[in-house]
Amino acid sequence: MSQGPETWTGDTAKDGAPDTPIARAAHAAMAVRGHEDSWPQPKSCRVISVANQKGGVGKTTTTVNIAAALAMHGQRVLVVDLDPQGNASTALGMERDTQTRSIYHCLVEDEEIRKLAQPVPGIPNLWCAPATIDLAGAEIELVSLVAREARLKRAFAAYDTSDLDYILIDCPPSLGLLTVNAMVACDEVMIPIQCEYYALEGLGQLLRNVELVKSHLNTGLSITTILLTMYDGRTRLAQQVADEVRSHFGELVLETLVPRSVRVSEAPSYAQSVMTYDPSSTGAVAYLEAAREIAFRAEGLNPA
Ligand SMILES: Nc1ncnc2c1ncn2[C@@H]1O[C@H](COP(=O)(O)OP(=O)(O)OP(=O)(O)O)[C@@H](O)[C@H]1O
Ligand SMILES: [Mg+2]
Repeated sequence: MSQGPETWTGDTAKDGAPDTPIARAAHAAMAVRGHEDSWPQPKSCRVISVANQKGGVGKTTTTVNIAAALAMHGQRVLVVDLDPQGNASTALGMERDTQTRSIYHCLVEDEEIRKLAQPVPGIPNLWCAPATIDLAGAEIELVSLVAREARLKRAFAAYDTSDLDYILIDCPPSLGLLTVNAMVACDEVMIPIQCEYYALEGLGQLLRNVELVKSHLNTGLSITTILLTMYDGRTRLAQQVADEVRSHFGELVLETLVPRSVRVSEAPSYAQSVMTYDPSSTGAVAYLEAAREIAFRAEGLNPA
């Protein structure tokens, strides 16, 4: 194999090992092991919001790749793109033009979510309710609507979720009405935290918002999962952030760390998740392991 630029990606495995061909082969073997497993199906559909008002921490990457990993293990998964940027829709190869019915029409015009969800090309069992740019105006349009915080919840209630195992909602980087809609409609919040210096800034406000929604609008809400993203094992800082998050949030933090990986960041430009773009890359293997933890944790089972 030629020593192409991919050798210089700076990828590191979660133990800090370099992303060499051998390391990749070892990870590929693990990934194959993962494919043989059967993962437990939840008794009823788990609705999980992926939220953090801080921008660029890995919400969309996490939503798309966890959803793909779950679907690749037999789970039936719907991704709801609630971010006007539409990054999850792009990453999942959604066709979008001016005629596309999107989650905007569901929130503002009561369109049935089933009608606008599209199958994700190349990944059976995975669907996406796409976002279009109209959603950028929804924060304002929602203000004057009845039950403006519960529009998404209503949409889910009108949608028979008995044939789905997971709904993952990709939230925008704000705590506005769209994120509130996600939190009212879900049971679980997953928070991706980037292993960087400012990672914990603003987290207090997110936690307070979750508590507010819980006490006034959705008593069933809880933060169930924290995922450390873009971990660079070569830096002491990443380790310090990871330690701090673990000491603060304990069991909520998944054991799997998602390493910083060029493959992860390349995948969306090919309209793919890293799970399909390069399944043996360190990033894909990490997301597979994280998804496995999520699937088994709820059942109280040991994913080992
Ligand atoms: N593990 C990773 N390794 C390398 N790059 C990553 C990784 N995870 C995410 N990225 C890149 O970091 C950037 C931000 O990620 P992403 O879009 O998932 O964050 P976000 O929280 O959804 O952002 P926003 O707040 O804008 O919605 C993207 O360019 C993405 O490709
Ligand atoms: Mg995003």
